[in-house]
Amino acid sequence: MESHTEWWRTGVVYQVYVRSFADSNGDGQGDINGLRSRLGHLEALGVDAIWLNPWYKSPLADGGYDVADYREIEPVYGTLSDAEALIAECHDRGIRVIADLVPNHTSSQHVWFQEAITSPPGAPSRDRYVIRPGRGDGSEPPNNWIAMFGGPAWTRLDDGEWYLHLFDPSQPDLNWDNEEVRAEFDDVIRFWMDRGIDGLRIDVAHGMVKHPELPDVDPLPLPWSLQGTPEPVDHPFWGRAGIHDINRRWRAILDSYDDRMMVAEAWVHPQQLPLYLRADEYHQSFNFDLIETPWDAAEFRSVIAEACEAAAAIGASSTWVLSNHDVVRHPTRYGLPAGTDTRGWLLDGPHDALDADAGHRRARAAALITLSLPGSTYVYQGEELGLPEVWDLPLDVLDDPTWEKSQHTVKGRDGCRVPIPWTADGPSHGFSHEASWLPQPEWFGALSVDAQRDDPDSMLSLYRQAIAARNHLLADDQALAMLDFGPGVLAYERADITVVVNMGARAVPMPPGEVVLSSATEMLGDELPPDTSVWLA
Ligand code: GLC
Repeated sequence: MESHTEWWRTGVVYQVYVRSFADSNGDGQGDINGLRSRLGHLEALGVDAIWLNPWYKSPLADGGYDVADYREIEPVYGTLSDAEALIAECHDRGIRVIADLVPNHTSSQHVWFQEAITSPPGAPSRDRYVIRPGRGDGSEPPNNWIAMFGGPAWTRLDDGEWYLHLFDPSQPDLNWDNEEVRAEFDDVIRFWMDRGIDGLRIDVAHGMVKHPELPDVDPLPLPWSLQGTPEPVDHPFWGRAGIHDINRRWRAILDSYDDRMMVAEAWVHPQQLPLYLRADEYHQSFNFDLIETPWDAAEFRSVIAEACEAAAAIGASSTWVLSNHDVVRHPTRYGLPAGTDTRGWLLDGPHDALDADAGHRRARAAALITLSLPGSTYVYQGEELGLPEVWDLPLDVLDDPTWEKSQHTVKGRDGCRVPIPWTADGPSHGFSHEASWLPQPEWFGALSVDAQRDDPDSMLSLYRQAIAARNHLLADDQALAMLDFGPGVLAYERADITVVVNMGARAVPMPPGEVVLSSATEMLGDELPPDTSVWLA
């Protein structure tokens, strides 16, 4: 495919949750050949790259973030040759492929962990993980760390020692002080680069290195809470300085190939993030700020301005994310009263507080924001269809480990992972010719690709038009200047386009200029209604 360097700096990257995208063989789970059969949708959408959630051999205890073999494809998803065919077909269509690499932990089914737990304490194979004797008489975990999905971060082995898992017990943490672990990942990275993968999304990129003494931790166990602290914290397992050596090692490998990139999922303090983006470390890092930003012009303005300034200061490119496989989908977030704890709301409600129409309007307006900003924009599958969160999945189908580990107090992330509706009817709306692994609600058909494809007012049409216009009108100029159109209005200028978003409760006068694109489905007169964006030339 045509080579132009630094493609990641401006691209639209589409996130594919393989298990929920398209199923080719009728087992109700998405797979690589299903994805291959739907590449036309992505090409028509105009995306530059896809990022695939983990596709490696896995018991799927955490949606594939529990990897049993980093060089094999999970049989539910296909084979290595299916993956190679996918990469080639994407490249033929001008679409680059980013794979997800999970270095912080393996699956407990990984051969290394099986070796570790069947070897005696002190054996070299145990040193690949973080395994320690307990406290006191050995029956207390080595320290007070809590796992991200709930419960202690340590599980006791039959021989009496404990192993560390910052996530699920089926995801033991690797010991990154062990050179064999480092060398293994070097090799895994080369394995995928040699197969033509264009980039890596590094999972939990702030987690690998632990404090050598494994001290107790004061509150602050959650990575995202680090972002809310005034100063960076010396945390025993998040964002430790030793991570940068690993970053450099990986970067050197990528630099030995042409045009490859890596993007960090790093939940660190904003002051620490630039360190991950130094010239010999990551090319890019996710910026999750918009996920946490309420529908408010002043808040959007400050998040956007800060991210653009921070990126410019270090010569990096910004990234924009409204939704992904870990958070409540944004049409639902934007339909809830400001201040709602969206994760808690899934279970606890009140569910009649949801204004789905407002959420949908705002999601349309938000698309014209993220697709007009400098840097790269990540689009989570189904976002282009306006899929909201399926918050009312039957409890007995929930698959996210969060549900069990929280003792049924937190529902987890299944509601944003419901399979894509391709057709208005038929079994699982064209996702599979059988029922899908998570059930789709009846109303999914109206949001299907078929139902939206030829409707000029659909979300899908809006995404297509915006991506095409972005490539045509905005690509060459990465600078952005904020404009002041009064309270409740977000406005900025990029290249020859002025973007105006009315995030207030009342209509505002329409600014001068020719409307290139509008998130409204009705014709606009001399007013810009609430929850509406326009691109003006
Ligand atoms: C990341 C992934 C999430 C996964 C976790 C553990 O945050 O995005 O889905 O559960 O890492 O690997």
